[in-house]
Amino acid sequence: MHKLKMQQSRVFITGGGSGLGQAIALYFAEKGCRVAIGDINEDGLETTKQMLLNIGSDALALKCDATSLDSLNEAKHQLVSEWQGLDILINNAGIAGKHGFVESTSIEDWQKVIDINLLGVVRGCMVFLDLLKQQKKGAVVNIASMAGLLTPPEGAIYNTSKSAVIALTETLQYELAPFNVSSHAVCPAFFKTNLTRSMESNPKAKRFIEREMDKSSIIAADVAKMIFEQVENRQLLLLTHPRERRLWRLKKLLPSIYEKMAHKLFAKVMTITK
Ligand SMILES: NC(=O)c1ccc[n+]([C@@H]2O[C@H](COP(=O)([O-])OP(=O)(O)OC[C@H]3O[C@@H](n4cnc5c(N)ncnc54)[C@H](O)[C@@H]3O)[C@@H](O)[C@H]2O)c1
Repeated sequence: MHKLKMQQSRVFITGGGSGLGQAIALYFAEKGCRVAIGDINEDGLETTKQMLLNIGSDALALKCDATSLDSLNEAKHQLVSEWQGLDILINNAGIAGKHGFVESTSIEDWQKVIDINLLGVVRGCMVFLDLLKQQKKGAVVNIASMAGLLTPPEGAIYNTSKSAVIALTETLQYELAPFNVSSHAVCPAFFKTNLTRSMESNPKAKRFIEREMDKSSIIAADVAKMIFEQVENRQLLLLTHPRERRLWRLKKLLPSIYEKMAHKLFAKVMTITK
């Protein structure tokens, strides 16, 4: 596979109006990429656009809903007319959704999260992959989560949506390799963004997650830098946080030891968030 020339790459990021999407937009623009952001939040879009303009990047901000194929197709037409193509698709838009034991969730809670976190990524792929394949170059980056690998309790909907994003990305790597298009899944643990605004939970659980985000030594800009390098190096999986990366390795290599540890750790978390 030929390496993608990152400088001057044309990049489209869903959910670019806040948090990680905004940080990716800024980092990739600083590295010389042409950046377009899509979001349902118009204020967020405007903020990121101004930040991009301030660093001298000509920013494209598109109102775009990852739960709508029509909306993504509209974004595609705008990008093709502005740029005549796309090199890097970043399916980042996501929500936290309903937190709690499985039996306390409703089918509507599941449908809401799956529609954005999983089907939003699927729709992005359906709409944009033909462009990348025709060009015989490009990359698709799907933002998953460590939650999809370590599956903590009371997060079944979110965990399942993110595990599925990892499975989707692993499938894509085989389908896209013949077209010189690389596939990437990003699995961060907690870092500070506005994600808890979309979290439906009891106040204790929300405070717990917010404290974990505040404690993280890794910020959105660090994750954005790692994603840039991941694409440059054509690395399939990115596990951004060292402690969680070690836990995942333990889970793979010594599953029975990991299970004992995880039961203890997660039982403690469940008492804190009750
Ligand atoms: N922050 C963390 O600790 C963390 C950890 C692991 C993974 N993630 C993932 O990172 C990604 C970005 O989240 P974030 O933490 O920056 O949160 P955030 O809430 O700050 O940003 C999410 C953005 O997505 C947008 N969005 C939501 N629904 C949309 C839709 N239907 N169409 C288009 N845009 C939509 C929101 O308006 C918002 O601007 C998500 O996929 C999230 O699951 C975050």
